Amino acid sequence: MPEATTPVETTAGAQSFRPTTGVGAAVPDEDDAAPEDDASFVAGENAAPTRDEGDGGTVWRALLDGRVPPAEVARGGEGAELLARYGPLVAAGPRLVLAQLGQSLDGFVAARTGDARHVTGEEDRRHLHRLRALVDAVVVGVSTVAADDCLLTVRSVGGPSPVRVVLDPRARAPRTARLLAEGPPVLWCVAGGADEPALPPHVEVVSLPAPSGAFAPADVLAALAARGLGRVLVEGGGRTVSAFLAAGVLDRLLVTTAPLLVGDGVPGLRFAGADRLADALRPPARRFALGEDSCLELDLAAARAARHP
Ligand SMILES: NC(=O)c1ccc[n+]([C@@H]2O[C@H](COP(=O)([O-])OP(=O)(O)OC[C@H]3O[C@@H](n4cnc5c(N)ncnc54)[C@H](OP(=O)(O)O)[C@@H]3O)[C@@H](O)[C@H]2O)c1
Repeated sequence: MPEATTPVETTAGAQSFRPTTGVGAAVPDEDDAAPEDDASFVAGENAAPTRDEGDGGTVWRALLDGRVPPAEVARGGEGAELLARYGPLVAAGPRLVLAQLGQSLDGFVAARTGDARHVTGEEDRRHLHRLRALVDAVVVGVSTVAADDCLLTVRSVGGPSPVRVVLDPRARAPRTARLLAEGPPVLWCVAGGADEPALPPHVEVVSLPAPSGAFAPADVLAALAARGLGRVLVEGGGRTVSAFLAAGVLDRLLVTTAPLLVGDGVPGLRFAGADRLADALRPPARRFALGEDSCLELDLAAARAARHP
């Protein structure tokens, strides 16, 4: 059971927020081929049913539909866990900006070589796929695409894959990247355009202003909202999540910490910070166990509301 420290809201019968047409349309679960170097993860997925069974399945299908079922639907076990963990994210409605990171105990999201397989355990990866399935768009920085050659699709649980968004002001993503070659729609955000005549139809180049070399996170979110993509997961890496955190545009931040010490590597959260702890961010939090790992969810929207009632 998760160790939820806040009550779960239920909004039975809430309208689904899933867009149904255009680039924001839910993409069917494509059960795509997993990367060869991800074989152990996939073996784990295949050992367990891909589609949830029992009350977990009922609750998960409702959540995917944008509805939070009443607590009675969850008869303990997985249904109650899913409701506690993801119900509040669904109840937030059509506009929600989440970020996630999986980090070592000493705050790194990858080894210094960029090797990030795997910082956290299988339960956290399944949790990450659930977060992907509950949003319209997933955002990563180009260094993550270069290091991981990730697909960013939903594979280990049932559910639609989100639109994939790559922040790449200098258009330096490897042209061989798998997400540019296959899968659901990609929004490739560049500054000033990319001269790429041979892009496949699922890739749209989005030109955004980057006056000092970086996009304002609010501009990225506005470009997504204009395409009907209001529920967004900023998935990494550390620099990208830190930029969205520092810009004050995140509603929730989910950081899973693994009992792993890397010593030196790719850092997770880094931002200007405060001189005094009294001025540091201390938002309301809840936590739950994911196998050996521990996930803390910070309610940044609630902290903002408390500062500016
Ligand atoms: N454990 C996890 O949860 C997790 C998740 C994802 C990734 N990772 C790992 O994290 C590592 C990469 O992380 P990272 O922090 O080095 O890089 P990153 O966040 O993946 O990418 C950073 C780059 O993306 C571009 N970018 C990001 N935000 C931007 C913005 N607002 N405006 C314009 N450009 C923006 C910039 O490209 P330019 O440099 O071209 O300006 C920036 O340098 C990889 O090793 C990956 O495996 C771990």
